[in-house]
Amino acid sequence: GGMKKIIITIDGFSSCGKSTLAKQMANELNYVFVDSGAMYRAITLYFLRNHINWEKTEDVVDALKEINLEFQYNDHSGKSDMVLNDENVEVLIRDMLVSEHVSEVAAIKEVREFAVDQQQRMGKRKGLVMDGRDIGTTVFPRAELKIFVTADPAVRVERRFKEMYEKNPSITIEEVKNNLEMRDYIDSNREFSPLRQADDAIVLDNSNLTRDEQLELALEWAQSKISCS
Ligand code: DC
Repeated sequence: GGMKKIIITIDGFSSCGKSTLAKQMANELNYVFVDSGAMYRAITLYFLRNHINWEKTEDVVDALKEINLEFQYNDHSGKSDMVLNDENVEVLIRDMLVSEHVSEVAAIKEVREFAVDQQQRMGKRKGLVMDGRDIGTTVFPRAELKIFVTADPAVRVERRFKEMYEKNPSITIEEVKNNLEMRDYIDSNREFSPLRQADDAIVLDNSNLTRDEQLELALEWAQSKISCS
């Protein structure tokens, strides 16, 4: 067969470099990149700002009706920004306050249904790379290529700290470490589609790989799936 377009899913713990890899792969393959975590972050931002009591299902359901999520391509960064009700919230959703609550919000069944439904619609047209926690298991169980990214916890804390420090120099390693551990725990232990490696996922441990090395490896896997149609 010729060149076919496929769906590539990239799942794993927080700060394993999933989004970086997904974005690079999408650029190389001329695919659409979707950061599914950004959607949960935007929902969390909306809940926080509007003082939504997310322990009440009814309030969650009503709030979700008021939320419109869109991705908008940004020429400067070469990726898509998260747009919440016509406001570009790409920077705001990376805030520590959002990071502290996002796992809790993402564990809510109605929130997941809302996000997964939109994610699946984005996959109707193939040629997509999506990163998250449950993309290979729940969102696209029949994706052609599933990658599960892991890295040494110490390496992840270090990477995440560098990223956060640029925006907020008063942040400590300890805070970053606690937040990562807490999110990993909640993401892996929640009732609805917890973070889990799909049976048919390829594991990519990038503790000792440069970005270029990991990209090269992942592109090889993608090319072999694309050419064997
Ligand atoms: O990838 P990230 O760190 O931006 O994701 C933020 C949170 O969203 C993460 O702690 C768990 C949740 N999430 C999820 O539950 N399912 C996804 N597909 C993506 C993210």
